[in-house]
This record gives sequence, structure tokens and C-alpha cells, in this order.
Amino acid sequence: ALCQQVEALLEQMTLAEKVGQMNQVAGSRDTTGAPANTDIEEDVRTGRVGSVFNAFGVEFTRELQRHAVEHSRLGIPLLFGYDIIHGFRTIFPIPLGQAASWHLAGIEQAARVMAVEGAASGVHWTFAPMVDIARDPRWGRVMEGAGEDTHLTSLIARAQVRGIQGRDPGATDTLAACVKHYAAYGAVEAGREYNTVDMSEWRLRSIYLPPFQAALDEGCASVMTAFNTLNAIPATCHPLLLDQILRREWHFEGMVVTDYTAIMELEQHGVAADASEASRKAVNAGVDMDMQSSDFINTLEALVHDGQIEEARIDEAVRRILWLKAALGLFEDPYRYADDEREAQCLLTDEHRRAARQQASESMVLLKNEGGVLPLSDRHRKVAIVGPLGNTPRLLGSWRGNGDHDDTITLREGIARRLGEEATLLYAQGASNQIGEDDTSGIEDALDLVRQADAVVLALGEDEDYADEAASRADIGLPGAQLELARRVLETAGDTPVATVLFNGRPLALTELDDMAPAILEAWWPGTEAGNAVADVLFGDVNPAGKLPMSFPASVGQIPIYYNAFNTGRPKGVDPKYASQYLDIPNAPLYPFGFGLSYTTFEYGALKTSCSEIALDDTLKVSLTLTNTGGVEGTEVIQLYLQDVHASVVRPLRELKDFQRLQLSPGECREVVFHVTPEMRGFLNAELEGVQEPGLFRVQIGSCSENGEEVEFRVRQEHP
Ligand code: IFM
Repeated sequence: ALCQQVEALLEQMTLAEKVGQMNQVAGSRDTTGAPANTDIEEDVRTGRVGSVFNAFGVEFTRELQRHAVEHSRLGIPLLFGYDIIHGFRTIFPIPLGQAASWHLAGIEQAARVMAVEGAASGVHWTFAPMVDIARDPRWGRVMEGAGEDTHLTSLIARAQVRGIQGRDPGATDTLAACVKHYAAYGAVEAGREYNTVDMSEWRLRSIYLPPFQAALDEGCASVMTAFNTLNAIPATCHPLLLDQILRREWHFEGMVVTDYTAIMELEQHGVAADASEASRKAVNAGVDMDMQSSDFINTLEALVHDGQIEEARIDEAVRRILWLKAALGLFEDPYRYADDEREAQCLLTDEHRRAARQQASESMVLLKNEGGVLPLSDRHRKVAIVGPLGNTPRLLGSWRGNGDHDDTITLREGIARRLGEEATLLYAQGASNQIGEDDTSGIEDALDLVRQADAVVLALGEDEDYADEAASRADIGLPGAQLELARRVLETAGDTPVATVLFNGRPLALTELDDMAPAILEAWWPGTEAGNAVADVLFGDVNPAGKLPMSFPASVGQIPIYYNAFNTGRPKGVDPKYASQYLDIPNAPLYPFGFGLSYTTFEYGALKTSCSEIALDDTLKVSLTLTNTGGVEGTEVIQLYLQDVHASVVRPLRELKDFQRLQLSPGECREVVFHVTPEMRGFLNAELEGVQEPGLFRVQIGSCSENGEEVEFRVRQEHP
């Protein structure tokens, strides 16, 4: 019935109206800071707009929708899009932090809450999940993805799509999802935003594309193209990506939208001489909707009349757009997302705050805890909070939707609530976290407080807009004079415990801090409940269980750095000189992928396998006993890595294939069983065919990518 409705509408549409549906314009505000379109209502009435983005709020969207439905010739409803990335009003941890929880149900729940809030506020469509694999922390948008691993990112992409789109297609508390940025945006050279990407098709298909496919397999409604070029062709007019892979191989029937002004940028890239050529290339490659460049609305009609674009291609694009509107129920009721009462009730509820607090504490990663500095005791009566992140609400992170700093719990507030009125809290900023602000004159005041305190919390990190779109950093150390502040505080503290808490949106280069700080907690940007969640972990109400989704380099010179690298012909450790190594720094990262400590300890028992040789289509059972050998309850993420030791193409030294997140009481032991399936052993061969080959394999199971028990098994060629 929906299809018939869409076809009937399509038949009535003029070419101009069809092109209007393919045009998306910015609504209430513009991400680049430019003024929003001023004549938007007129454009809507004349059928020149199919979708409005940065459009939220029941009043605003209802009014615009009225112009479309009541005053345009065919009354086709508008589609309202908005970047709801880690929360609409209740802000959850940044996606990289969420990924550190390795808690898929929690991630789905966070996406659910953001959809409930967005949908209650008139939004139909969000530009999430962002699934760009990133191996370069200089790139600011690493904060928005799930890190460096394809398997983890794919699972998270699925969880996010489930959360955003819900399980009931008729519901009004769900949004349409849009997986982005298609593709390989995370591999921009030198981590510099919008830069060139050049990679083999093998790497593209093996590492960068699977999370997109996972999101689409989960039913994701739409795809956004990327800004970058890929192998000399911009992603926004890339026939291999948009036509061959997306449509022909993956059979994706949904809508493709560009990133912001990406069609216009084809001219800057140097593949189009003017707007007409840019439009022609994009639409012929398979783009359905133009975000904000106006090239489609200005050129497509003439291109069809000139025979440079077939009207059938326009029909196909419009059909996909109308299908999405129909699937969202907008033809039945264009105002179904515009309910004042729902909007008033659904935002920033206590329940949403509780969910955000829980996820924020689950996202934190304990990087170091020498001498058991953490958890701090609540018997501390005089606590000094020192550092530029100690008393600021700027803990939401970038892409913070409609989140409000006034609703955000600062670290100082969180600790004050936790310790109650009898405790004294002292605070000094000590130094700035702004790039280039190296003034050290505030440090002495901070040291005065440190001398008076019986515990110190050192709150350091980046400004929340330093990891964002257009926010690449070449030096990923602590900005400003924070390192000097840390040095002086730690020298002065003597036996007073000092816990360092980091707030940042990317892996930082922390070698110097790590050398001197006994306890480091990575808190990312935790969102609205930041201060409460950090206090939960600092004082041991929550035992940290986060594991890094991205390697933290020992030095910027190691970048790109990632755990699932190939071996070389001359690996480090064989010949002292002729080895793949640096003369001046180690090869290993400071903190590897999958790493994170706990307030308890876990003992991994020996690995047991069902047999040592299996057939190609067999599954191998691997088990072990995990014991909580410490004194408190804790959650461990047990990680399984696989190595295909000899194959027709080089295989990584290890690849994450599975994990389990288990909570154990002190002294409790549990049998953990994994199944190494044929699918896990598959890979792309040199012809880019998915294969599985016989031979020797190694399974590693442990608490991070760099440790664990290993066991070998063989896969036979022939079936038994
Ligand atoms: O969705 C975003 C995209 O991720 C980056 N450029 C702007 C778009 C719309 O805000």
C-alpha cells in the first residue's frame, strides 16, 4: 500500500517538484555558523524543499510542516533531520566513551533515549550512527565513532540502529537512522580533517566497510556520503561506493544523502567545473538528497531536459525519499512527531538522567592505579580539586545536540554531593586547557590547596570542542600548561593521594603524565551526569570496567597505530638492527586497544579447546575459568582474538572476534565459553573474495589485545 501511495504521488509530480524533494536545507541553525536560510518558508510552500535539517522543537517544526502540508501544491510533508549523536537533551558520554563500555545493551539504551527525546521534539531523522574506523587520534571526529576495531564498531553500529529506530516501525518515539560517513572518512591522511584518503580496496572492504554493512543489515534507513576523496574520487560521486557496493552488492534500497555542501565541494576537489557537473556526477553515482549545497535545486531540471540525467534516476531518488516519509507515517499524520505535551514530558527525565549516569560510569577506563590510590575513601574530609576541568560544565563533548551546560553536573558538584556537607572541597583551576594558553601563574594557588588537602583530584583534559568536526590536532598532549600543573601538584602532594581524571575526546599522548601520576582515570566527555558519574567511580560506588576502543600512542610519531596490524618480514626482536622499529621510541602503544584496569583482579585460567584440529565448516569451542581474585565485585570484558598464522594473503597478528562482559562477586569463578566459528575465520583473499582457508590458527583470550593465554588449532582442508 505504501508503494502504491508513493507511485501515485510520483505520477502527479512535476519535474521541479521531484527535484524539490531532493533538496535539503538548514533550518533553525547552521552547523558552520552561517545564517540559516531566510526564505525557507517560501521555498517550502513552492515545493522546493523535501527536508530540513537542524530542525527541532515542536513549535518550530509544526509551523514549517504546516507550510508544506497546507500550502504546497501536493502537500508532501517535510522530513526533519538533526544531528542527535550522543543525546538530544540528556547527553550521554561521547560515542568513543560509550564504545569503551563494550556494553551493547547500554549503548542501545542510550540510543533509545536519544531517539525518544528527539522524536518528542519534532525530529524524524538523525544523522547517526557514525561508524568510521579511526586509527589516527589526531582526527577530531574519533570522538564520534567506536574507535579502531571493525568488529566492535560493527556490533555497536547495530546496537545504535536498534536503539534509534526501535523495534516497532509504527512507533512515534523512534527516528530514522543514517549511517555515516560513507566511506573511509576516518582514514584522512595525517588525521587532518577533510583530507585525502587513499587505500587498497582490500583494506577498504576488510576494515572500513563492514560497519556500514552491519548498520544496513540491521535496517538502517539511510546513508550519508563522506567529505573525503577515496582513491582520487570524492566519496560523494563515487561509483564504486555508491552504485557498485551499496546498491548492487548490498542491495540497499534506502536513501543516500550527502554531507553538508559536499556536492558543491566537488568543484573544490577539482572533479567538477561547475554546479551542473557536480550535480550530474553526484546524482548519476547514486546520491538522492543534496544537503545544503543547492546544486540539485539549481541544476537538475536543466540536466534532465538536456538529456544528461535520465528522469528515471530522479524518480528513483524521489521514490526513496517518499518511502522514508511514508515509513515514518508522515503521510498519515504529518504532525505525529509534533506533540507539545510529549515534548514537555520526555526531555531530561530522571530516568534518562539515571541511564546517562550509569552509562557514563561504565564508559570510564582506569588506565593506572599504582599503590591502590583509587578508589578514594569517603573518609577524606578535605579534598582539593585542581585543574581546568574540575569546575566546568563543559563536559558534554561536541555534537551535544540540544544539551544544555546549565543541566550538567560538574566534577566539583558531583564530588560535593558524594561527600556531603561535612567534607570541605577546595578548588583551583591551576592552568588553562586552551591551546596556546601556557600561563603557569595559577599553579602556586593550586599548590596551596594541595598542601591543605587529604586527597587531591587532578582534573585535566581537552576543551570539549577540541575533538569535533574540523578539530584536528597535531600535538595530542594535554593543552596549555596542564602537564606542568600535574608535575608540580604531584611533587607537592607527597603522601597525599592524587587521582588524575582525564576528560577528552580522543586518545591523548600521555607518556609524561603516565610516568609521574600514580592513578589515571579516563572519563572521556561523560555528558549531562558527568560529575556524578565520575564521583561514582572515584569513590568506588562503581568499579570501573571500561576498555579502550582505541590505542593510546606512546608518541605522536607512532600514528597511525592500531592493534590489528600485520607482522613484517623483519619484526622487532629478531635482528637488533634490521627490524621494523624506531630508533627513539618503542613500537608498542602506551595503553593498547582493549586495555582497562579494575578495582578488583581477575585470574584467567588455562584455555581448553574441544579439539586441536577441525574441518573447514566446524566450530571450535574454547573455554576457560575466570575468577574474581580481588576484594570487590567487578565486571570484566573477556576478549577473544584470532590469528590466521599462514594464509594466501597476510593476516593481522590478531583480530578481535568476540568478547563477553561478565560481572563477578569477590571469589566467584565462572566458566566462560567461546565458539570460534567458520565465519570468524573468514577473510578477503587477493581477488577480494570472501574465503576461509585451512591451516594453523591461534586463539588468544585475555583482558586486552596485548595479553592473554594462547592456544593453537588447525583447520583441515577436507571434510572428515
Ligand atoms: O551530519 C553532519 C555530518 O556528520 C558532518 N557535517 C554536517 C552534517 C550535518 O550537520
